[in-house]
Amino acid sequence: MLTIDVVEGDITRLDVDAIVNAANESLLGGGGVDGAIHRAAGAELLAECRTLHGCPTGEAKITKGYRLKARHVIHTVGPVWNGGKSGEPELLARCYRNSLTLAQSHRLTSLAFPAISTGVYGYPKEPAAEIAVREVKAHAGALERVVFCCFDTATANLYRGVIARSGSRS
Ligand code: AR6
Repeated sequence: MLTIDVVEGDITRLDVDAIVNAANESLLGGGGVDGAIHRAAGAELLAECRTLHGCPTGEAKITKGYRLKARHVIHTVGPVWNGGKSGEPELLARCYRNSLTLAQSHRLTSLAFPAISTGVYGYPKEPAAEIAVREVKAHAGALERVVFCCFDTATANLYRGVIARSGSRS
């Protein structure tokens, strides 16, 4: 049975089978959570990412976790917010869906997501959280634990509210 947890803090510290990275299409690093993950995992992560030849928006690719506690990193590329009429909601939903599917195809049981696209990429936080919770509840399959890792208290409270309204425990 699936447990959904909301954790406030730095995703690079979490002890889960995989943490999800909010990457860009190059998969070669950047700022925000992407930069934090690469710094914490070490240079070997970038070396493996170079072999992947990028990732289209909405899709996901997996690497090892190297110096992270997490055994793997699932790199997904969220949409840049452009007003919401350029397919952003479906692309964001695909990030969650494809990450969940990839985790299960590697027989992982615990997965942590950051709030994909809601930093540099500018996706409004509340509709992004609604998509995240909806997709996890619909596509968690055999996963036992999914963590929404929020970098600040306001985002954590937002997720708690969205989860409560969706009828799940957090
Ligand atoms: N742990 C958890 N959440 C974090 C952390 C952390 N260590 N650091 C930031 N966040 P962003 P995006 C939150 O900008 O919007 C990169 O340069 C942050 O508060 O990291 O998808 C990539 O290379 C926000 O809520 O990702 C891309 O070019 C959320 O993570 C671009 O940014 C996502 O913010 C992707 O932009």
